[in-house]
Amino acid sequence: MSILKVARLGHPVLRAGARTLTAKEVASPEIQRLLRDMVETMREYNGVGLAAVQVHEPLQIAVLEVADNPRYPDKPAVPLSVLINPRIEPLEQTSEDDWEGCLSVPDIRGRVPRYTKLRVRALNHEGRELDFVAGGFHARVIQHEFDHLNGKLYLDRMGDLSTLAHLQEYIRYWAEK
Ligand code: NI
Repeated sequence: MSILKVARLGHPVLRAGARTLTAKEVASPEIQRLLRDMVETMREYNGVGLAAVQVHEPLQIAVLEVADNPRYPDKPAVPLSVLINPRIEPLEQTSEDDWEGCLSVPDIRGRVPRYTKLRVRALNHEGRELDFVAGGFHARVIQHEFDHLNGKLYLDRMGDLSTLAHLQEYIRYWAEK
């Protein structure tokens, strides 16, 4: 497995969007290898999610996992999952503000409004159809990764940029104790 280079804010690949994959492509050795490398890369940098565009691949793939993460110590666990060609539909019109970070925007946090409950449809790592409901932090991570696949960053979703914080100031003043 390899740890992949992560594109940072300003790299055009983060704004270009991503194409969908067929189930046959998902099964290919190239994509299976990419999925393993994306998981390895996400874990190496303590991400809770990673989109293929962040590793310079304009494909509709995201991986996510929340498990004892030092960057998000107080968040509920989300098992490792692979979402390919994800489609999301808010099930409640309510949204909630919470802190987000991004491996492509290093050492910065900001408060971002997100829908609290979603229906999610996607293919899994075997190319099989998934259809499930996600809420809370899980729904937040999925919306963040979904945005990556459509050329958006969480900064674009912030109504108010005044909460942007360098990580050290975030920890000093804003992190839940
Ligand atoms: Ni991100």
